[in-house]
Amino acid sequence: MISLADQDVRPGAEVMRRLDRLARFSQEEGTLTRLFLTPEHKAAALQVKLWMEAAGMAVHVDAAGTVVGRYDGTGECRQALLIGSHIDTVRNAGKYDGSLGVVAAIQAVAELHRRARRLPFPIEVLAFGDEEGVRFPVTLLGSRTIAGTVDPAMLDARDDDGVTVREALLAFGCIPEGIPAAARRPGEVLGYVELHIEQGPVLEREDLPVGIVTAINGASRFLVEVTGEAGHAGTVPMALRRDALAAAAEMVLAVERRAASVPELVGTIGKLEVPAGATNVVPGAVRFTIDMRSPDDGQRTTAIADIMAEMEAIASRRAVRATARRTYEETARKCAPWLMDRLAAAVAANGIEPLRLPSGAGHDASALAGLTDIAMLFVRCAGGISHNPAEAIAEADADTAVRVLLTFLETLETRKTID
Ligand code: GLV
Ligand code: MN
Ligand code: MN
Repeated sequence: MISLADQDVRPGAEVMRRLDRLARFSQEEGTLTRLFLTPEHKAAALQVKLWMEAAGMAVHVDAAGTVVGRYDGTGECRQALLIGSHIDTVRNAGKYDGSLGVVAAIQAVAELHRRARRLPFPIEVLAFGDEEGVRFPVTLLGSRTIAGTVDPAMLDARDDDGVTVREALLAFGCIPEGIPAAARRPGEVLGYVELHIEQGPVLEREDLPVGIVTAINGASRFLVEVTGEAGHAGTVPMALRRDALAAAAEMVLAVERRAASVPELVGTIGKLEVPAGATNVVPGAVRFTIDMRSPDDGQRTTAIADIMAEMEAIASRRAVRATARRTYEETARKCAPWLMDRLAAAVAANGIEPLRLPSGAGHDASALAGLTDIAMLFVRCAGGISHNPAEAIAEADADTAVRVLLTFLETLETRKTID
C-alpha cells in the first residue's frame, strides 16, 4: 500500500510551487498567455519534460507536440494507463486550468518513483498542447493524435498571422507526417484519466475538495463571416445601409436568446472583429465565433439548426451575406462506470464523500473517449472562477488530489482482472 501518511511528504506544496513556475512561461510578463506551438509553449514543454525525467519517466515529444512520459510497470499488464491534461492556456489565463492535471500526475508518479514502486501496468503522463483552441481555429490536436482521429485538414488551419498548424509544428520541432503513427490502438491502453479544476462552483458549494466527473458536454464551434457594404458614416442614409455589424449584433442576440430557451444549453460569442473598422465607416464585414454546448447532443444540434435559420433570415432582411464554417465538433461523452467507481472508492478511502458531477467545460478526455474508457477527477476552485487570472485552488486540495490519484493508481486492477 502506498502511504502518504508521513507528515514530511506534502505533494500539494510541490504541485503549487511547480504551477507558479510553469505560469512564468508566458507570452507577456505579469499575466499568463501560452498558446499552442509558441516559444513559451516550447519552454513549458521542456520544463515538463525535465520534471517527468526526474520522476523516473522515459520522455519524448510526439508529432503533435505532446510531452509523453512513460513510467514502466512490472510487466504483468502491457496496457498503459494514460493520465493527461493540457499546458496551453487561454489569453490572460489562470495558472491551474490544464496545468494542474499535468503537474499532479507527475507528482503522483514521482511519489511512486521515490518509493521505488512499480504498478502492474505502465503509466503514461501526457501534457497536451492544444486544448484551448485559441491560436488556431481547430483544437484537441494533441489528444486527437493519441486517439487517431486527426482530420488532416486540421493541419491547414491558419492562425491570425497566416501561419498554418503544419508550419507551426515544424517550427516547434515536430514532424506532422508522424501524426498517424503516434496514434494508440485500443488494445494498447487501459483507459484515460484526467485531473482538472472544476471551473464551476459545485464542489465549493458542497464543501468538497474533489469530485468524480460523470460526463462531458458536447460542443460545436463556428466561424461566422457577415459581409455587407462599407460606406461613409456621414453620407449613407440609414435606410440604404448594409451594415454588417448591426446584422451581426442581431445574430449575437439570436444566439443568446436560443441558448437561454433551454436549461443546460449554453451559447457564447467570445470573439467578434470588424476587420477594417473605423469610426467614420459603416462596417462592411464582421467575423465572429459561436460556441454552443449541451450535455444532450440532440438539444445542441436542434438549437444550431434554429440559429442558422435565424441568421439567414436576419441576413436576408438586412441585405447582407452570412456564412458559417464549423471549426469544432465534439459529441457529449460519458465517463466509464468502472473507472468512475474506482475513482469514487479512492475518494472515499481518503475520507471524502464521493460526489459525482457533470462537466460543462471541454477537456482532452472528450477526444480520448474515441479511443478508450475515460474518467476525470475534478478539484475545487475558488468561486468556480476559470479562464480568468483570478483562478485559484487551495494547496490542501492539490494535496488531496494527488493522494486520491495515488490511491486510485494503487488500487486499480487491470481490465484483464476486471473482465
Ligand atoms: C476549454 O477550456 C473549453 O471548455 O473551452
Ligand atoms: Mn482545461
Ligand atoms: Mn480552459
